[in-house]
Formats: sequence, C-alpha cells, structure tokens
Amino acid sequence: MYNNFNYYTPTRVIFGKDTESQCGALIQQYHVHKVLIHYGGHSAVKSGLIDRVKHSLDEAGIMHAELGGVMPNPRLAEVYQGIEFGRKEQVDFILAVGGGSVIDSAKAIGYGLANDGDVWDFYMLKRKPERIIPVGVILTIAAAGSEMSNSTVLTNEDGMIKRGYTNDLARPVFAIMNPELTMTLPDYQTACGCTDILMHTEERYFTPGGNMELTDGIAEALMRTVIANARKLKQDPKNYDARAEIMWAGSLSHNGLTGCGGDGGDWACHGLEHELSALFDVAHGAGLAAVWGTWARYVYQDCLPRFVSFARNVMQVAPADTDEETALRGIEAMESFYRKIGMPTSLKELGISPTAEQMQFMAHQCAELSGGHRGRAKVLYEADMLKIYQNA
Ligand code: NZQ
Ligand code: ZN
Repeated sequence: MYNNFNYYTPTRVIFGKDTESQCGALIQQYHVHKVLIHYGGHSAVKSGLIDRVKHSLDEAGIMHAELGGVMPNPRLAEVYQGIEFGRKEQVDFILAVGGGSVIDSAKAIGYGLANDGDVWDFYMLKRKPERIIPVGVILTIAAAGSEMSNSTVLTNEDGMIKRGYTNDLARPVFAIMNPELTMTLPDYQTACGCTDILMHTEERYFTPGGNMELTDGIAEALMRTVIANARKLKQDPKNYDARAEIMWAGSLSHNGLTGCGGDGGDWACHGLEHELSALFDVAHGAGLAAVWGTWARYVYQDCLPRFVSFARNVMQVAPADTDEETALRGIEAMESFYRKIGMPTSLKELGISPTAEQMQFMAHQCAELSGGHRGRAKVLYEADMLKIYQNA
C-alpha cells in the first residue's frame, strides 16, 4: 500500500548554458542587503567562475563579501568562522558556489546567522532552528543533491562526528545549474558524484513498503539514465548532454521525488558511509560504492522482490532460475559498473584498512545515531553493521 506523502520542493531551478550570468538579476528579487559568496578550495576561482559571479552581482548593484576555502566533508569549526564573518559583514543572503560541501556549509552558516546559540545543537537534535538566511546555489558538481535537498551534513572535529540535519527551511531558494561548469571535474569526482546520485534513489528504492508504480518507474528510469550517462562520461567527459542528464538526475534523486509514496527509505549505506568519511575523510560517493555490494549481499534475501526488480529493470540482467540468483546477478552487475567507472567495491579498494577498534567504533556510532538500528530492506543493529564493515 502507498504511504501518504508531503512533497515540498520550493527551489527554483535555472538550468542550462551560461545561466550563472543570471545570478545578480535573480538575487535582486530577494531585496538583499549584502550577499556572502561562499565557495570551496580553488576550482571555482581557477575556472574564473567566482569573477563572473562577482561581475553579475556588481551589474545588479548588489553588495557582496566572499568566503572561500570550504573543504570536502565540511567542518564545524569552519562554519563557526563563517558565522562570525557573516555577522561582521552583515550579510542577509548566501550564494553557495560549489558542491554539497559548500552548499551544506552555506546552510549551516545560514542557520547560525538567523538563530541564537550553537548551530551544532540542531545537528544533535537538541533544538530546532526557527529561520534561516536564504541560500542560493550555483552548482559545480552533480552529486550530493544539496541544491534541492532539505539536508546539511557537517563533521564536528571534536570526536570526528559526522551528522546530517534535515529541515525544509534549508531548501535553497534557487539552484543555477549549468552542466558545462562540471566539465572541469576530475574523472574520479565525476564518478563519485554519479555514485551518490544513484544511491540517493537506491536508498529510497530498497524498502519493503510503499512501492508506488509511478515512483518506481521514475526511480528506475533515473538509475538507468545515470548508469548510461556515467559510462558515456568515462569515455567522453566533455559530453554536454551526458553532463546535463547527470546534473538533473542529481537534483531529482534527492529532492524527494523518488521517495513519494514510499516508506522513508533504507539509508543504511549512507549511515555506514558517513562514519567512514568522518574517520578517514574519503569522498562520500566512493565510500558508498565501497560498502554497497557487501550491504546488498547482507540484506537482499530480506527484500528479495525489490532486488529482483532492480536486477531486471535497472541492471537489465537476464533472469536466472531462481529469484535469489537473479538478485545476485543484479548486485554483481552494479559492482561491475562501479569498477568500470573507477569506483571501489571494497574498503581496500577505497584505500583504507580500518583496525578492529575503528570498525567497532564506526558500527557503534552508526547504530547510536539511528537510535540503535538502521535500515528497512533489513533492519541492521550494531553487530550487523560491524559485520558489513568486516566483510567490506
Ligand atoms: O573545493 P574545490 O576546489 O571546489 O574542489 C571540489 C572538491 O575537492 C571539487 N569540485 C567541485 N566542483 C568542481 C570541482 N573540481 C573541479 N571542477 C568543478 N566544477 O570536487 C570535490 C568534491 O566537492 P564536494 O562539494 O565535497 O562534493 P559533493 O557534492 O559530493 O559533496 C559531498 C558532501 O556532501 C555531503 C557529503 O556527506 C559530503 O560532506 N552530502 C550532503 C547531502 C545533502 N546536503 O543533502 C546528501 C549527501 O548524501 C551527502 O551526505
Ligand atoms: Zn549521499
């Protein structure tokens, strides 16, 4: 049976070539005093994007301050600095120019500027924010889906705790998406992004409940599209159409669309991965690929009809004599796809070898964060999570 749902996607999307030149005119509509231009390490400066953004704001007569340097897997300490800087500059709008890390940092700064007290309280679910400084996005990597999502993910260096906080306040007011901006990405980051996009729909797909026909159709089409175009980009990274397909898939995969009518999703792989990137600072997408196959083999018998549909409709494998065999063929096909695009399918291939204590720690953190258990395809407890880390 379908579950009731509440689908809210207020983000205006401006998609296509040269759309970033519209940012000044767009922000004018929000009657802004001063914009904080927020960006990452160096890619957006090197490509000249930040200069183009400033030019567009200048043309629209909008004051701006800038704060770069956001690292992948953004840190709480830097967010605190951002809040302080934003207060000093009296900004009332944040323009995030980058990927999930920059956008998530912008959302956190937005919460910090608009509410009193410690912003980390929200991530620890101690209290709720009442408002946020509006965030607009110019997306440079198709991956996390933060440009339309209601989440922000931060790492607190004190204890290396990576936590997401979800609230509809954090949905960006607009997202400018020019697929050409993603053409400077290293192949590895493109592949990490494609993996994360796939996983945002897979997390919603591998569940025993809901399974609305229309939602399943959208989800399966999205996954097939990402797989086909990730393969194209491996051969031809400058292929505009493939970049565009992936970019739009990235937003639709995490704005809630592929979960309508579902039961909230599994999210075990995301939980397991967040502990990996908290401790080892690996790229989120690569961490997901490294645990997915092991997770899938651990849970598929408990969610067999979905794994069979996935094998048939997404991976398009020939049916085997038994459903179990078909499901396993689907899992193998997915892992083979990951390897083809340069993604790891084990922790070793990810380049890490956690000690027994570290695995214990990650399993404990992951279980504790979820109130003792996580997952719907199969409910996982701390001991299951530990086994998955060990098997991976
Ligand atoms: O810092 P720069 O120099 O820009 O380099 C970045 C970074 O090294 C680079 N990059 C981005 N655009 C580029 C580019 N390099 C060349 N050309 C471009 N056009 O790519 C690297 C990765 O960037 P990052 O923003 O970290 O990637 P992603 O979008 O994958 O974001 C990952 C973060 O998002 C979180 C992850 O946990 C991780 O912290 N997530 C956020 C979610 C959300 N808010 O809804 C959901 C996700 O599941 C995820 O957890
Ligand atoms: Zn993700």
